[in-house]
Amino acid sequence: MPTIGLGTFQMSSEDAENAVKNALQSGYQLIDTASAYMNEKAVGRGIKESGISRDQIFLSSKLWPSLYNDENAVDDTLARLDTDYLDLLFIHQPSGDFMAGYRQLEKAYREGKIKAIGISNFEGEDLQKLLDEAEIKPQVIQVEAHPYYTQDVVRKTLEQYGTRIMAWYPLGHGDSSLINEPVFSELAKKYNKSNVQIILRWHMQMGFIVIPGSTNPEHLKSNIDIFDFELTDEEMSEISKVNKNVRYYVPNKQQTDAYANAQLDFSNEK
Ligand SMILES: NC(=O)c1ccc[n+]([C@@H]2O[C@H](COP(=O)([O-])OP(=O)(O)OC[C@H]3O[C@@H](n4cnc5c(N)ncnc54)[C@H](OP(=O)(O)O)[C@@H]3O)[C@@H](O)[C@H]2O)c1
Repeated sequence: MPTIGLGTFQMSSEDAENAVKNALQSGYQLIDTASAYMNEKAVGRGIKESGISRDQIFLSSKLWPSLYNDENAVDDTLARLDTDYLDLLFIHQPSGDFMAGYRQLEKAYREGKIKAIGISNFEGEDLQKLLDEAEIKPQVIQVEAHPYYTQDVVRKTLEQYGTRIMAWYPLGHGDSSLINEPVFSELAKKYNKSNVQIILRWHMQMGFIVIPGSTNPEHLKSNIDIFDFELTDEEMSEISKVNKNVRYYVPNKQQTDAYANAQLDFSNEK
């Protein structure tokens, strides 16, 4: 799968449609969305408008917990995205009857409706339960990861399954303190790149798949221009010193459990 793509969290339908079209026309091959983002229909339109053929695009989405027991959830997702298959479908949260959601993914995988199975935001006991009970192990996990939080425990747990990490908030959701860490400014000068490009290159060399969000056409272009330089082992070690083992979003069990009852209303999705 592609190692870099576009994330569409918090994008309005109009922004998502334009960003997806611009990204694909600029050479992106991976687009990530979710039922909860309420922009799957717009993502589908952006794909069509780009003129890029579907088989050149790696498309991922996520099932929200209130859909885990809805047997039409996968077909409805495909319909909103106006596509016959997904390259990757995640269950979005370790909430409610998440194994029912996972069984839907396994069924869809066997039927060829999805080409890979993913989980998102799993860790600890929930991750272990899922790994113990899964008939098909997850191929990708999407979790918060960036130079301040490198997901060492989850990486270690999943190493034996070959599960790839897809990093959300790869730029700390645009946090200027992270982006402007002196180590990134120094390396940006050395390689004639931007601080963001250095961070994205670091993700790639960590083995992470990365999906920075952007609606800015210039950012979209520069974010994928990271294949013409390589950070040295010493530079990767220098960057590891900014790790604070701190994340921007600390999961709260009560809130995560409540997601199972948070119904999505697709009737107004544009
Ligand atoms: N599974 C989950 O629970 C979960 C949770 C959160 C996010 N995600 C996924 O992860 C993706 C990425 O997260 P995110 O979009 O919230 O955060 P992010 O990628 O860490 O940061 C996005 C922010 O960085 C800015 N940015 C992007 N490129 C830039 C550049 N070259 N220079 C300066 N600023 C730049 C963007 O502003 P501009 O628009 O101005 O460029 C935007 O404000 C999401 O879109 C979504 O697909 C998943």
